[in-house]
Amino acid sequence: MKRALLEYIVCPECYASFECHVEVERDDEIETGSLRCSRCEKSYPILRGIPRFVTVDEPLSGKNVQTADAFGWEWQKFRELHDLATYRAQFLDWIHPIQPEFFDGKVVLDAGCGMGRFSLVSSAFGAKVLAVDASDAVEAARENARDFSNVHVIQGDIHRLPLRLGRDAQVDFAFSIGVLHHLDSPQAGFDALVRHLRRGATIFVWVYGRERNGWLVNVVNPIRVFLTSRLPRRVLYALSWFITVVLHPIVRLIYRPLRALGRDNWLYRLLPYNDYLAWLGQFGFRHNHHVVFDHLVAPVAFYIRREEFEAWFHEAGMEIINLSWRNRNSWRGHGGFAPDVSVGESLKSEGK
Ligand SMILES: C[S@@+](CC[C@H](N)C(=O)[O-])C[C@H]1O[C@@H](n2cnc3c(N)ncnc32)[C@H](O)[C@@H]1O
Ligand SMILES: [Zn+2]
Repeated sequence: MKRALLEYIVCPECYASFECHVEVERDDEIETGSLRCSRCEKSYPILRGIPRFVTVDEPLSGKNVQTADAFGWEWQKFRELHDLATYRAQFLDWIHPIQPEFFDGKVVLDAGCGMGRFSLVSSAFGAKVLAVDASDAVEAARENARDFSNVHVIQGDIHRLPLRLGRDAQVDFAFSIGVLHHLDSPQAGFDALVRHLRRGATIFVWVYGRERNGWLVNVVNPIRVFLTSRLPRRVLYALSWFITVVLHPIVRLIYRPLRALGRDNWLYRLLPYNDYLAWLGQFGFRHNHHVVFDHLVAPVAFYIRREEFEAWFHEAGMEIINLSWRNRNSWRGHGGFAPDVSVGESLKSEGK
C-alpha cells in the first residue's frame, strides 16, 4: 500500500480518517501494518501490501460470500495479464463512447476490479485509480499493478467502501464492469457506489441484459446455479476447457470471418447469438477459456432489463448521459448528476 492512499481511505464504519501503523515497509510500500480509525478505533490489517476491509471479523453478507469466493479462485487462476493494448481496446469498447482524455487527472474507482486489467488502463490514461475488489482477486491485481504508481489496490466490499461519501466524496468517476449483476441486490450495489461520487462526478456500469437472453436465463442459468457453480473449481476449470475446445474454433473460423462481411450479411444474420460470439472470435484460446469459466462459476447472476437499468440512474437522482446495448446482449450506461445537484441532496438518504 502506498502512503498516498491514506488521502482517500477512511473507516467504512464511521468515515473518520485512519492512523497508520507500519510493521514492514519495502520499496516505498507498506507491506504489513494496520489502519486504526481515529474515531471508533476499529482496526483493519494491511497484509501483503493490501489494506483489507473484508476480513474474518468483517465478512461479506448473504450469497456475496460464495460469489467472492468463486471469483477469487477465478482471477488467481487467470491472473496473467495479456497485452495492455488489447485491454485498452477492450476497455474503450466497453465504456464507449468515453475516450482516454476523459480519465486525465481524475480520481477513478474501479468497483470489482478482478485482476486489475481496467485499473491499469485507466491509470495509463492518466487517472489515479482506487481498485477495489472483495475477493482474493486483489492478490493478482496487486501483482499486476506493481509498476503502476497511480493504482491503489484495496480489498473491500462495494456495499461498505472505505471511501468518503456525500459532500466529502472524492471520486470523479466510478466504473463497474461485470460486477453488479452478481450481487444479491444489484441496485443496492449501484446505490452504494453513487454515495461516493463527488459533485459533477459520473458513473459507468456494464451489466448482463435480459433482452435476447432467454436461453441463458432458462437454460444456462439453472445449470450454473444448481450444478457448475457448485462443482469443485478444478473440475469446472477442466469442463470449461473442453467446452472451449469446441467453441473456440467455431467463433474464430465461422463467426469472426462472417462478421467481417458485415452485420447485414445474410449468413451472419442466421448465426445464433452472433454479435457476442463474433466478438469472442477476436481473442485467443486462453482468454475464451476464461470467459467460459466466468459464465459458469458465479452462484448469482441477474439479467437486467433496460427499464430496470435506467431506473437505477433515475432513482439515484441521476441523468443518463449514454445508454446502449452492447453486443445486443448487455447494457452499458453512463450517468451523472445535473451540475446543480450535489450527491448528498440527490440521494434520498445517505444511509440508503
Ligand atoms: C466478472 S469479475 C469482473 C472483474 C473486472 N471488472 C474485469 O472486468 O476484469 C467480477 C468481480 O467482482 C468482484 N466482486 C463480487 N462481489 C463484490 C463485492 N461485494 N464488492 C467488491 N467486489 C465484488 C469479484 O470478486 C470479481 O473480481
Ligand atoms: Zn471508525
